[in-house]
Amino acid sequence: MAAAAFFASVVSVRAVLLLCVAAAASAQLSATFYDASCPRALATIRSAVTAAVRRDPRMGASLLRLFFHDCFVQASLRFFLLSVGCDGSVLLADTANFTGEQGSFPNKGSLRGFDVVDSIKAQVEAVCPRTVSCADILAVAARDAAVTLGGSPYTVLLGRRDSTTASLSLANSDLPSTTANLSDLITGFARKGLSTTDMVALSGAHTIGQAQCTNFRSRLYGESNNLNAAALRATCPQSGGDGNLAPMDPATPTAFDKAFFTGLIQQRGLLHSDQQLFSGGATDALVRAYASNGGTFRTDFAAAMVRMGSIGVLTGNQGQVRVACSRVNS
Ligand code: HEM
Repeated sequence: MAAAAFFASVVSVRAVLLLCVAAAASAQLSATFYDASCPRALATIRSAVTAAVRRDPRMGASLLRLFFHDCFVQASLRFFLLSVGCDGSVLLADTANFTGEQGSFPNKGSLRGFDVVDSIKAQVEAVCPRTVSCADILAVAARDAAVTLGGSPYTVLLGRRDSTTASLSLANSDLPSTTANLSDLITGFARKGLSTTDMVALSGAHTIGQAQCTNFRSRLYGESNNLNAAALRATCPQSGGDGNLAPMDPATPTAFDKAFFTGLIQQRGLLHSDQQLFSGGATDALVRAYASNGGTFRTDFAAAMVRMGSIGVLTGNQGQVRVACSRVNS
């Protein structure tokens, strides 16, 4: 077999395995998983998230992003070479045995909310010790964060277990980059079993939250755009100010609404990768649909979150329920 054909068949076998594992795993998740073992789990998480977002509205965005970065990375099923997993791996600090995901290029100096997750976990441990996984806490916190800021409510499927390892290299390879073009984005999400519609809807998470200058400088100075250039250039000079922040949806920066998509139609996407969703390609129509109907966006976002939340989860006796989210049980 020619090398290319062999490679293609290995890739497609991996894709099929990935879909099978994802389907099998999601079949094992259940909305009622903690009803008997920890009936207060969901209310405890919700009130902690609401309080954290009230203190700092950006925390809603940060919790949502933590969940995304968890789901897109992990190698628990190393023998299949699958990179899957909403398994709490992003929460693990580095140890002598592995270097975790927090130091990867997309995450370093950028992910936030670990202290809030630790505090939620402590509150949940106080009502039900060793019962509720960190992976499930992230899934519920992400939903509650979006809903607190205006997203549509949806039911989170539960029963994920936590990984006992994390992968720096997969965090570097599997998380999407701001330099990605539309086909890179479509392929990256397809590799996780998510459709192009899921990708566009999930990207709508950027309707809340902020990005650092280093992530939009080249778009600001190097691409034609309708960004508010004077204000943004003051925030993000050609050199220096790498960590200075700007909202990805300046119209309504902390509201979970359709304004992010309206901004894309106006060529005001802050990130190169966001503007790719409306750049004359196959996703333009969907961006227009979301910009004209916020209800459709919210519904599609909720459905896509459920699908993303089922990527390569550990269930049953796999993994463990960590007592502290930042470290494996001793
Ligand atoms: C489509 C590919 C994506 C790319 C290239 C991307 C990239 C980025 C970048 C560069 C930032 C700013 C980080 C910083 O400057 O510190 C960011 C922030 C954020 N991302 Fe994405 N992202 C993508 C998809 C997603 C998805 C699918 C979600 C959730 C479902 C998401 C949720 C967020 C949120 C909420 C923030 C703001 C976080 C905060 O303010 O703390 N992103 N993203």
